Amino acid sequence: MDLERLLADRLAPAFAAVAGGPVDPAVRRSQHADFQSDAALGLARRLGRPPREIAAEVRERAALADLCAAVEVSGPGFLNLTVSGQALGGLVSAMAADPRLGVPAVAGPETVVVDYSGPNVAKEMHVGHLRSTVIGDAAARTLEWLGHRVLRANHLGDWGTPFGMLIEHLLDLGEAGAAQELSMGDLDGFYKAARAKFDDDEAFRERSRRRVVALQGGDPATLRLWRLLVTQSESYFLTVYDLLDVTLTGDDFRGESSYHDQLAPTVEELDRLGLLRRSDGADCVFPPGSVGRDGEPLPLIVRKSDGGYGYPATDLAALRHRTGALGATRLLYVVGLPQRRHFEMVFAVGALAGWLAAPVRAEHVGFGSILGPDGRMLRSRAGGSVKLVELLTEAVQRATALARERNPELSEAEAAEVGRAVGVGAIKYADLSGDRHKDYVLDWERMLSLDGNTAPYLQYAYSRVRSIFRRAGAAARPDADVSRPDAEVSLAEPAERALAIELVDFAAVVEEVADGLEFHRLTAYLHRLAVAFNAFYERCPVLRADGPVRESRLVLCELTGRVLRQGLDLLGIRTPERL
Ligand code: ARG
Repeated sequence: MDLERLLADRLAPAFAAVAGGPVDPAVRRSQHADFQSDAALGLARRLGRPPREIAAEVRERAALADLCAAVEVSGPGFLNLTVSGQALGGLVSAMAADPRLGVPAVAGPETVVVDYSGPNVAKEMHVGHLRSTVIGDAAARTLEWLGHRVLRANHLGDWGTPFGMLIEHLLDLGEAGAAQELSMGDLDGFYKAARAKFDDDEAFRERSRRRVVALQGGDPATLRLWRLLVTQSESYFLTVYDLLDVTLTGDDFRGESSYHDQLAPTVEELDRLGLLRRSDGADCVFPPGSVGRDGEPLPLIVRKSDGGYGYPATDLAALRHRTGALGATRLLYVVGLPQRRHFEMVFAVGALAGWLAAPVRAEHVGFGSILGPDGRMLRSRAGGSVKLVELLTEAVQRATALARERNPELSEAEAAEVGRAVGVGAIKYADLSGDRHKDYVLDWERMLSLDGNTAPYLQYAYSRVRSIFRRAGAAARPDADVSRPDAEVSLAEPAERALAIELVDFAAVVEEVADGLEFHRLTAYLHRLAVAFNAFYERCPVLRADGPVRESRLVLCELTGRVLRQGLDLLGIRTPERL
């Protein structure tokens, strides 16, 4: 258990006794001691007593002797809590002996669907899809590590009216030529050429329309051509996932087309439930509380006036499938904030239909945009949207150059490997380390810097740990899942204590992140940990220390390495042995 909770559990009964009812002890980290409790201040008015007096009484009543070396009333009525070295050492030892680093697998595993990435067939994946892919992958990894059953759902845009023109364009190019163009990843060129013909050429437009009808009617020849487009795009997306080092595979594609057969039954069910209303020839649901800017009720269109189903109907069918057939109790949608309204309405309709009822819940894990250094939407030099592959390639090139410069003795292969881990890690970290609701500015210098809240800084701290063990000569235990099980941890130096306090906080942070999916809380934690480790390493000799002190410090080093590796792994970031 983490210290904050441990202390709160001890303080709660004392506060309750003083206040005559339950009180949250409000324990948090403090500048003046290890922790402080502020609850006495909030109680003062209610109890009509000076806060210092309340704090003093709680101090007398609380059973803290085995945990704290000092408990002091300070300022207007804070309780300052200093944890004893022995209690802290015990927590560190227990964590070091646990392969799961004090983070238990959840008692009640859930089936969680993580809907992420979701690029569109025959369209370039852009930086918006990057954020979804990076954040979604971190969510999938984290929940899986906690023991949940995670189903990755890549909601590929692979259906709809554009496929008429795309198939006709494919026929114009010839299958072989089109396949060649698509496999090279020139998806945008393909899409734009099709679009241009559609806009300028009446005959092409007519062919495209007929083709959509054939596609929806299940014409085998048309379906084969459609499949060709989908397969080519999928294989291209898989190369991007590989480059990006995410856990999505070919088995995770759950394209919009896969809900095709469920669209009519889904809408029929809404109809049976009496939820449908006709509006301008379309079938709509008006979820209560959904109003536009003008105050008019806002409909979710489930069947268009031409009888076709669109994006909203597909999401309703997917939601119904996920909570029904798949039995998921938590649905995550990692999609940009511009789609917030869409998901609010889909969830509201899901609730009306009874597909989404407690304890089952759906969450839109929204995020802001990626901005260029000028603070505007990220653009390529030519002014178009930036291709994801180009961005990744640039990151890896920059990081490889940096690795070579720092470490000339790295072999070509090693430099390439480190460059990839650092470059891709830097991009992911930059994305994950800010509040995801906000836009973030892509800044190469900053994200590749070895100083500051960056992936390279953490990877460097990890490689520092590894180099200690290489120098120790002793079994460098890169894969050890417990640290020197018998060594006693003694924490005499302030820098050792400070490091230990960070270490034992890991479980609480992971738990919080699994709940709110705010990964910047995990990055901030890992950064604090690395800072504490570097300070410890500067002040406390490890290999030159004697006997038990050396052993104890080696435990701190090893545990720091394991937490950094595990924490970065949850974020999908690699930890090379050498940097
Ligand atoms: N293909 C969509 C887009 O590019 C994202 C899909 C998100 N997932 C979903 N279930 N709607 O905007």
